[in-house]
Amino acid sequence: MNPKHTLILGIETSCDETAAAVVKDGCHILSNLVSSQVELHARYGGVVPEIASRHHLSMINPLIEEALKEAGLEFKDLQALAVSHGPGLVGALLVGVATAKALAYALRLPLIAVNHLEAHLYANHLGAEKINYPAVNLIVSGGHTELLLIEEPGKTISLGHTRDDAAGEAFDKVARVLELGYPGGPLIDKLAREGNPSAVDLPRAWLDQDSRFDFSFSGLKTAVINHLQRARRRNEEVNPPDLAASFQEALIDVLVEKTIAAARTCRARAVLLSGGVAANSHLRLRMRERLLKALPEVALHFPPPELCTDNAAMIAAAAYPRYLKGEFAPLDLNAHPGLALLS
Ligand code: KG4
Ligand code: ZN
Repeated sequence: MNPKHTLILGIETSCDETAAAVVKDGCHILSNLVSSQVELHARYGGVVPEIASRHHLSMINPLIEEALKEAGLEFKDLQALAVSHGPGLVGALLVGVATAKALAYALRLPLIAVNHLEAHLYANHLGAEKINYPAVNLIVSGGHTELLLIEEPGKTISLGHTRDDAAGEAFDKVARVLELGYPGGPLIDKLAREGNPSAVDLPRAWLDQDSRFDFSFSGLKTAVINHLQRARRRNEEVNPPDLAASFQEALIDVLVEKTIAAARTCRARAVLLSGGVAANSHLRLRMRERLLKALPEVALHFPPPELCTDNAAMIAAAAYPRYLKGEFAPLDLNAHPGLALLS
């Protein structure tokens, strides 16, 4: 490998995916492995932190070995190690942080601490597309819903966030009441394709002018629960695809319109989607259609579905600018479960 290239090994264990990846120069993926724990948690209807930590512990070393092998590299070829140190589940994060610290010490390599949310944003850099700034970024994951203005790389301003449930959380909770399984997002995405999005009238929380870039999804979730309970009381049939499609439509309406309003207000040149919910086929489609109509000069970028959900390539990508600036973490780095995006 050309020594002028920067090879970073990324490690991700913040929730229920154990992941290791090697990325060259912040944008070329050489390997990207994810060991999903979905089946382990599905029977409990959500992530069980203790089970997540134990699985990370047994998977992380073999996964790192495999990531290097797939990239055709050895430890000695690496320039740095990057790890997600928050936000997330503390016991889960600690597995990745301890592994990265041990490797950094043993291999005498710099350690780079990455904010998991910031890394979701960097998933958009793992492609050939050039991004023009200023850009508006919608991060929609299981734990967060954030609308950001990126004036230029590294200069980010928060425009708004959710007041209650995150978008992914709303998908997961509604899937649970519809008894679809876990995680709910992909299941609702699939079921909604067979349903009528106008079948059930559900609320959209636009909020007042001062909070126009904030979100609230708990009212929508309650409306779905009320609809189901009312139908049960009256002995009426519920059509799950119709209800799933109507819920998805209501949530996506709000995400799309607020993102477009933000792009217009900030005179953005690009809109970026990231986080697990950005894998949603209807969100991708609707955002493209509406943007083309409302702001045709604004480019839309979203990562392929496997880079929207948790992965380690995005961790290595986010570490690259830090590597160039020499922003390294000390070996007493700790996990920060509540780490904010703009801290
Ligand atoms: O970013 P992510 O993998 O993990 C967190 O950092 O939270 O996001 C996981 C969330 C889950 O709530 C999951 O249901 C949702 O992303 N999700 C989706 C889809 N794929 C994953 N939501 C809607 N449609 C999808 N296709
Ligand atoms: Zn995530």
